[in-house]
Amino acid sequence: MSKQNRPVVSVVGAGNVGEHVANILAIKGLANIRMFDLARKTEDKVFEVVKGKALDIKQMATSLHSDVEVEGFTVTPEGDGYEPLEGSDIVVVTAGFPRRPGMSRDDLLSKNVGIIRVISERIAKYAPNAIVIVVSNPVDVMTYAAFKLTGFPKNRVFGMAGVLDTARFKSFLSMELGVSVRNINAYVIGGHGDDMVPLLSVSSVAGIPLKEALPEDKLNEIVERTKFGGGEIVNLMGTSAYHAPGSSTAYMVEAILQDKKEIMPCSAYLEGEDGEFYEANDVYVGVPVKLGRNGVEEIVKLNMTEEERELWRKSVASVKSGIDRIKELGLI
Ligand code: NAI
Ligand code: 2OP
Repeated sequence: MSKQNRPVVSVVGAGNVGEHVANILAIKGLANIRMFDLARKTEDKVFEVVKGKALDIKQMATSLHSDVEVEGFTVTPEGDGYEPLEGSDIVVVTAGFPRRPGMSRDDLLSKNVGIIRVISERIAKYAPNAIVIVVSNPVDVMTYAAFKLTGFPKNRVFGMAGVLDTARFKSFLSMELGVSVRNINAYVIGGHGDDMVPLLSVSSVAGIPLKEALPEDKLNEIVERTKFGGGEIVNLMGTSAYHAPGSSTAYMVEAILQDKKEIMPCSAYLEGEDGEFYEANDVYVGVPVKLGRNGVEEIVKLNMTEEERELWRKSVASVKSGIDRIKELGLI
């Protein structure tokens, strides 16, 4: 009997975020999933954790009557073991290390770009037609690195952050207003950091502009909470979020596989006419894009108020300095 034909989504880095991406794709039956991660070594044993996670997710999917295939592959930091990337329609990259005590920002950049380099080279070798979604932080800078290091066209390399930041913004708005998240239309653009820009001028609740729906001080409070949404969770959990990052990434995957042409904020490459509109050139940063089977099919030009433009410029400058830094350090 022949197997069911499904797209293939590979997830490189099956840590907290990666396994949750896989989990949601499996529950939804959207794709066959291949997970890649390093072995975990203790004094007397080598654990192939990724194979265990894949089996567990497969069995979870079975219990929910989803037929997807889920496989785990152990890889090395040097890039061995990536052959099963072959045939991937999408590769999600969530591999990376958090900053540890004693590590400078440059140390972290250097370590994480090193990881992105190996993975990008393997994607280019084994899955040259894949779409790449980068999640690893600092995401705008890592997406730029993946773009340069895969050599893929810009429509096939982009980053996840705006969907997550917007979900946080909408969560806080719906909690405050007591209305369904379905009634809230909102965008958060810019870099995935403290300078992100919740766009109040184009955000609304059932068609009512946000500035009319909430008093100014409450709205400002929600904007600030959104900007530090990642930090709030780190402070509570002692590690960064993974449920919403996982679902936000899976949401992007679904839009691509089902050719939805859905507009959502993603970290996309700005240059040319789009760059002129957004006053940014040769940089990855969060903007509304149309996602479909070809990846980023269009960058949507969203008008901003002068006040929002100022915040936007600051956010772009902050991302740009990270990109400049990896160039100065000779990392790409
Ligand atoms: P985690 O530590 O749970 O998972 C990272 C995984 O990457 C680990 O399983 C590790 O073994 C693996 N890994 C490390 N080096 C590797 C290599 N050379 N090859 C293959 N796998 C490798 O971390 P978590 O929470 O899953 O976060 C992953 C990344 O996503 C981090 O950089 C985090 O900051 C970022 N993130 C980004 C978000 C966004 O909005 N863009 C949201 C949440 C997290
Ligand atoms: C987040 O926003 C840390 O980027 C991660 O949760």
